[in-house]
Amino acid sequence: MRMRKKHWAIPMLTENSYIYMKPKGENGKWQEKFAKTQPIHLEIGAGRGDFLVEKARQTPNINYIAMDREANAFVEAGEKIKEVDLPNIIGILGDADHLLDIFGESEISKIYINFCNPWPKNRHKKRRLTHPIFLEVYKKILKDNGEIEFKTDNDELFEDSIDYFEKEGFDIEVLDRDKDVNEDEAISYYESKWREQGIKIKYLKVRYNKEKE
Ligand SMILES: C[S@@+](CC[C@H](N)C(=O)[O-])C[C@H]1O[C@@H](n2cnc3c(N)ncnc32)[C@H](O)[C@@H]1O
Repeated sequence: MRMRKKHWAIPMLTENSYIYMKPKGENGKWQEKFAKTQPIHLEIGAGRGDFLVEKARQTPNINYIAMDREANAFVEAGEKIKEVDLPNIIGILGDADHLLDIFGESEISKIYINFCNPWPKNRHKKRRLTHPIFLEVYKKILKDNGEIEFKTDNDELFEDSIDYFEKEGFDIEVLDRDKDVNEDEAISYYESKWREQGIKIKYLKVRYNKEKE
């Protein structure tokens, strides 16, 4: 079911000082937006923001950027980021299609992709956030030996993504088709929803060594 369009979402995000709206020309300057210089972790498709806000609470020595292209869901993330009022989390309303307009080379230490749309039809697979078209871009914005953590409920997307990461030269460090969750672990809105339904969560942790290029 489609979410009803919230006409107030864009104005509310625009007024939120923690949120950067479709930024351009900030490449290489994201560190300046935080109180401390420390590694930057980016979540692409952050949705309502639950996962990254909890990560920011738990891990003050990392700077977090939550990014999503849909104002409708992301307005909730914006409100959560504002409410926690932490020095180590900001948000970007922006599309992963434009990552190279937003980030500089090697600016990001880790990327999280949680429960992205599976796009099952062949003609739509290029839209998957783990498709090689996106992986090529992630390789540019990631630091040497940068990591990606990917979670999904979808078997086909998971198996295809293993192939995508391997084909693009990522080293698979953890591959789990039925990931456990700890009591205090940060999880996203969709992860809690699928877990409640008893759906197995598939998880990959991969690393990219730029010396191989
Ligand atoms: C199924 S939701 C998952 C949200 C959240 N990660 C979670 O696990 O609860 C997928 C999210 O990815 C976002 N998304 C899809 N394609 C995107 C893109 N190209 N750039 C940025 N966000 C995207 C959607 O707007 C949506 O909020």
